[in-house]
Amino acid sequence: MNAAGPAPGAAVRVRNVQAGDLEDVAAIDLEITRQPKPGYWAEIYQRYGSGRRQQRFFLVAEAGGRIEGFVIGEVRDWEFGSPRCGWVFAISVRPGERLAGIGSRLLEAICDGFRRLGVTKVRTMLSRDNRLILSFFRSQGMMAAPFIPLEIDLEPAGSGPA
Ligand SMILES: CC(C)(COP(=O)(O)OP(=O)(O)OC[C@H]1O[C@@H](n2cnc3c(N)ncnc32)[C@H](O)[C@@H]1OP(=O)(O)O)[C@@H](O)C(=O)NCCC(=O)NCCS
Repeated sequence: MNAAGPAPGAAVRVRNVQAGDLEDVAAIDLEITRQPKPGYWAEIYQRYGSGRRQQRFFLVAEAGGRIEGFVIGEVRDWEFGSPRCGWVFAISVRPGERLAGIGSRLLEAICDGFRRLGVTKVRTMLSRDNRLILSFFRSQGMMAAPFIPLEIDLEPAGSGPA
């Protein structure tokens, strides 16, 4: 891949991920989250990108031979008590390439994939403090949904009674 970046104005193409894209994908993720995740992207590729499962999507935006962003999601049937809908788990664009419509292109492409499977509702989940991603999803027409996330802190394994 082209680590130096695409030529200015290189056309952006959204396509299915390929194994050779994972290095760029991991680098974008590391730049955003600052969390190295050894093995994680290879596993996500197996689960979402290998093309064997029709309901799963792992798409990348490529420009001039370099990956500039990615989106991952899938169609779920009646999980969380919800009729069939599309879930977007992750969307990220390389920091230096933002505000040029790549995020919108990625979301549009995964929604096209959902639509082809007959899906008419798309959901995602985000941290309430993440104003950037909230602004992005709101700009795409997404609004608060009639679901609430619940969570609990677990004691670490081995800390309770045997
Ligand atoms: C959210 C993100 C994907 C948007 O990608 P992008 O390519 O910049 O998005 P677009 O250029 O298509 O922007 C579409 C709209 O989103 C909104 N938006 C995007 N970035 C914004 C910002 N920094 N501030 C306010 N609104 C913003 C705007 O309304 C924008 O439309 P406009 O340019 O006409 O104003 C990108 O900023 C990103 O990767 N952020 C980090 C995401 C992250 O934390 N991922 C990990 C968990 S999933």
